[in-house]
Amino acid sequence: VERLLTGLSSAEAPVEILINNAGMGVYGELQNQPIDALARMLAINVVALTTLSRLVLPGMLARKQGRILNLASVVGYQPGGPRMAAYYASKSYVLSLSRGLARELKGSGISVTALSPGPTETAFEQRAGVGNTLLYSLSPKMTAREVAQTGYRAMMRGQPICVPGLGNKFRALAAQLLPRAITLEVNSWLLQYRARE
Ligand SMILES: NC(=O)c1ccc[n+]([C@@H]2O[C@H](COP(=O)([O-])OP(=O)(O)OC[C@H]3O[C@@H](n4cnc5c(N)ncnc54)[C@H](OP(=O)(O)O)[C@@H]3O)[C@@H](O)[C@H]2O)c1
Repeated sequence: VERLLTGLSSAEAPVEILINNAGMGVYGELQNQPIDALARMLAINVVALTTLSRLVLPGMLARKQGRILNLASVVGYQPGGPRMAAYYASKSYVLSLSRGLARELKGSGISVTALSPGPTETAFEQRAGVGNTLLYSLSPKMTAREVAQTGYRAMMRGQPICVPGLGNKFRALAAQLLPRAITLEVNSWLLQYRARE
């Protein structure tokens, strides 16, 4: 961390934009998830994202400018994700951290944007083992390019929140408005594997 701190605070190459994109998901009931994979997921989704933001802030504050883009997810708006509970919770953390930090940095010249995509065509679904869930089988997917372009524009405008795509906006809003018990049942249904044909 110290080496990283020295590199990141170098005056010749100051970090003007930090994009916390790296992340992973682990599918399955918590008691069955490999402990190593779970720890790795929390280290990358939560700890690395927070630590990197902490490391670049002093330089950005000194220069009175900077942009941070954090990859949350539309699932971060959900009250919980049965069979993916830790992943959903990690993305709620990203959303909460980004909102709090954006307010903390108001007037400093530094913006924080939480980008919350829904299902997107990347290696994520295969790596996380969610390709066979009803959620990923039924949802239309955006391309990574569409998500990246929308997120980039939001970051450059200094928007604190960005949910790309109409369907994802609707899902985020519905999760805020519907009773939690109903949303949890819907998520439990969506996060099961679809029956084999
Ligand atoms: N795809 C979706 O449906 C979706 C939906 C909502 C949010 N997201 C979020 O979007 C972000 C990008 O994911 P993606 O969809 O592009 O998935 P991806 O294709 O699996 O890419 C994940 C990225 O994270 C990096 N990464 C993973 N573990 C790492 C580690 N321990 N150390 C350093 N880098 C690591 C990977 O690097 P390597 O390739 O070198 O391993 C890769 O660049 C993630 O935060 C994910 O949670 C994805």
